[in-house]
Amino acid sequence: MDTSILFQETQLGALKLKNKFIVAPLTRMRADQPDMVPNDLMVEYYSQRASFGLILTECSQISPLSHCFPGSGGIFTEEQAQGWKKVVDAVHEKGSLIMLQIWHNGRAVNPSQIGGQQPIGPSPIAIDQNNFLANNEPYPVPHELTIEEIKEVVQQYKRGAELAKQAGFDGVELHGANGYLVDQFLRDGSNQRTDIYGGSVQNRSRFCLEVIDALAEVFGYDRVAVRFSPTGRYNGQYDSNPLALMEYLLGELSKRNLAFVELKRHGALEYFIKNNSEDKRIPPAQQIPDFFNQLRKFYQGNLVANDGIKIEEALTLTTSNTAQAISFGVLSISNPDLPIRVKNNWEINQTIDKNTWFFGGSKGYTDFPTYEQQINVSSS
Ligand SMILES: Cc1cc2nc3c(=O)[nH]c(=O)nc-3n(C[C@H](O)[C@H](O)[C@H](O)COP(=O)(O)O)c2cc1C
Repeated sequence: MDTSILFQETQLGALKLKNKFIVAPLTRMRADQPDMVPNDLMVEYYSQRASFGLILTECSQISPLSHCFPGSGGIFTEEQAQGWKKVVDAVHEKGSLIMLQIWHNGRAVNPSQIGGQQPIGPSPIAIDQNNFLANNEPYPVPHELTIEEIKEVVQQYKRGAELAKQAGFDGVELHGANGYLVDQFLRDGSNQRTDIYGGSVQNRSRFCLEVIDALAEVFGYDRVAVRFSPTGRYNGQYDSNPLALMEYLLGELSKRNLAFVELKRHGALEYFIKNNSEDKRIPPAQQIPDFFNQLRKFYQGNLVANDGIKIEEALTLTTSNTAQAISFGVLSISNPDLPIRVKNNWEINQTIDKNTWFFGGSKGYTDFPTYEQQINVSSS
């Protein structure tokens, strides 16, 4: 198999990647508590993956109210920025680039996880599931943000970007996927506002575009990226017409010269979703068939493809110019050296250990060996 295209230098906005391999954003919950400060273990974990052209960090919260994962590294205090700086410096030193995934969880959290406060959202609609991160309690009805409060949240994203810049990140990726705040505004299952932030696809896209514009005030558009999962069902999400939404949104983003848009096809987060035979809504794969090719038609800039992509599909997507680069999630957990394995045609480690995704310190986090370490261990 000729994989050479995956090792071409790739320009994504202002970022020059040494290859087309990207570490997908992965929450691993190893930051110091209670201050959510990135630590030395995280320095080791991220810098182990420097053979990838670009690393996207775990989703990083912009305020105390904006997170649901204890142990995700935050980006709203100087101390957190200093912790991230150590991660960034180590990754740069080993020759890769790193962007912070910037995040607000919105309604996807229980009061017990955020000091008893009520979560926020575009509309007072709760996720119709129980929260496995909060003793399986039902999700609460979020407080519907006023227009003034929306403006404040946009400023929190901007402040997060300023701290990310201070930490030395090469840019930021806005988390617009997986049922968190931006995605909650985008989709009509969670956004039933009647003001300028709800209703039409133009209005539902407004919050996302305002946040992107605020991030670009800090980094410039060519160091800002955004991730979407328009058909994903994680966190109880649904949109009645995701194709129309993406046609408008990607059209608007085409005017902005972003570093890239990362598209997550529905798939791997099914790890977390129980099959519900009562769900009579249109299945995700039927909402946008031929996902990447369809969405490519709406976007003029760089696309990064994600979700269940193996090397063969990565080659097809990049050779056809459907995607300029590919992000890998679970494969980058068990293969810190994935690009090197592919280049040398070495075996890819297919281990999936869900027990250590979110817990376990170094176990399942920094102890996956590179291929060369693995061979040395087995031959000694
Ligand atoms: C343990 C774990 C943590 C994740 N954390 C995030 C996250 O912080 N932000 C995000 O956008 N997606 C997150 N995802 C989704 C992944 O980025 C990716 O979209 C998913 O794993 C599918 O890609 P893959 O098939 O290459 O693994 C997570 C997935 C897993 C398995």
